[in-house]
Amino acid sequence: MHSLVIFGASGDLTSRKLIPALYNLFRKNRLPKFINVVGFSRTKMSSGDWRNKLAETTKQFANKSFSQDVWNQFAARIHYFAGDIEESESFGQLDSLLKTLEGEDEVHRLFYLSTAPVFYRSATEQLGKAGMSVDSPGHSCRIVIEKPFGTDLESAQNLNETVHRNFDESQIYRIDHYLGKETVNNILILRFANAIFEPIWNRNYIGNIQITANEEVMVGRRAGYYEKAGVLRDMFQNHLLQILTFAAMEPPARFDAKSVRDEKVKVLQSIRSMTADEVLQNSVCGQYRSYRDEAGVKTGSQTATYGALRLFIDNWRWNGVPIFLRSGKAMSCRTTQIVINFRQPPHKMFANDEVSTLPLPGNRLVLQLQPAEGIQVHFETKIPDTDMQMRSSELRFNFLDKFCGELPDSYERLLLDALNGDASLFARSDEVEAAWRIIDPIQKCWESSRIIDPEFYEQGSMGPAHADRWIESFGVRWFDLCPM
Ligand code: BG6
Repeated sequence: MHSLVIFGASGDLTSRKLIPALYNLFRKNRLPKFINVVGFSRTKMSSGDWRNKLAETTKQFANKSFSQDVWNQFAARIHYFAGDIEESESFGQLDSLLKTLEGEDEVHRLFYLSTAPVFYRSATEQLGKAGMSVDSPGHSCRIVIEKPFGTDLESAQNLNETVHRNFDESQIYRIDHYLGKETVNNILILRFANAIFEPIWNRNYIGNIQITANEEVMVGRRAGYYEKAGVLRDMFQNHLLQILTFAAMEPPARFDAKSVRDEKVKVLQSIRSMTADEVLQNSVCGQYRSYRDEAGVKTGSQTATYGALRLFIDNWRWNGVPIFLRSGKAMSCRTTQIVINFRQPPHKMFANDEVSTLPLPGNRLVLQLQPAEGIQVHFETKIPDTDMQMRSSELRFNFLDKFCGELPDSYERLLLDALNGDASLFARSDEVEAAWRIIDPIQKCWESSRIIDPEFYEQGSMGPAHADRWIESFGVRWFDLCPM
């Protein structure tokens, strides 16, 4: 028997993501057969009320696949418990409810912290106090912790310490929903299940790598959180660095949690740290022009809604290869992609080869992570009926065309892995801390004495104008691909 307890049950994440993902897994027959889903939140409400509320949101967010019959079967497994996350009494009562639902069977409990981060400490402590964090024969407990995991290195270390007081690292699943995306997982398949890419996946063939996560959306209702986070904490410390580890890590010996995470940590630990002066040279910081008009944003706010970084990984594979990371809100289109720009051929033998300085055409591999999920290879071809003139062409692969249908939401994969006890796609404590070690000095430099004022950019643009001049000063251009 599995029990999944969702703390923060009345929040948006639960209704828009977690329950629709569980419903889809149930519909596809992928959920464990015997499972209870228990929502925990302060709001007083009956299980029936909660189910009705969830039916509405699931209809909206479960990828057009809603069927009332299937929902009714799934909903029979859903229960609601009104409790206070800061009170021991509530945890005693929760434990009794779970025991009643679970019966005498072998039990696997998964606690999901989908609350505001300020409650993480209390939830883990209360679970510990109630004796609900300890494994025993026939009884396992695991905990999933949503991002953000800390707001800097120190707070992440403190949170790790608190959680470790009650849970062993092997029981902790720090979630980053980007790691559940099919296309992010496909980076590993592309690299390690194909013989043609790995031999060229290094500094000898790759000139630079660009990882972009641009969004059209603005900050909207999230200004309270975003004002404190900004783009570095919101997108770089987690999603962008996680994608980078997949793109840059050494082949793990096996696809298991330890081997994969060991290799990812090595990448993060090899990223060159920067002095404040180096941060100034190697970053761009921007703010969309109407950001300060958003409700909840301070007058004169300096919070960055756009960032670009140039990083180096100091190891044999990547020595000297600049890695450009970039993310912004209110951009012209939503696109998350990895662009691998290969070096040019060593010798130019075609006289008609265009002589230009920036950028010279090289081969390019584009991994379009979302939307229009796919892969493209860009290469030079002869223009017919010319005297050896050439033009860039591309080979395209599209996931949806190939596998017909919709890609599952990342929470489906991650919830299933956590229920099954597979932590490969979750961040380990040393990984999260290593990522903060990279981001903290950049964040400090951006904030301290306003060394860098974010440059304004227009909503619907490609970010601050300086970002283009900045990357060109390194002899590189952004490769932008707005999905059709
Ligand atoms: C979240 C950030 O983690 O990821 C949001 O807090 C961002 O600001 C979101 O919009 C992007 O996720 P996705 O899956 O839509 O790319």
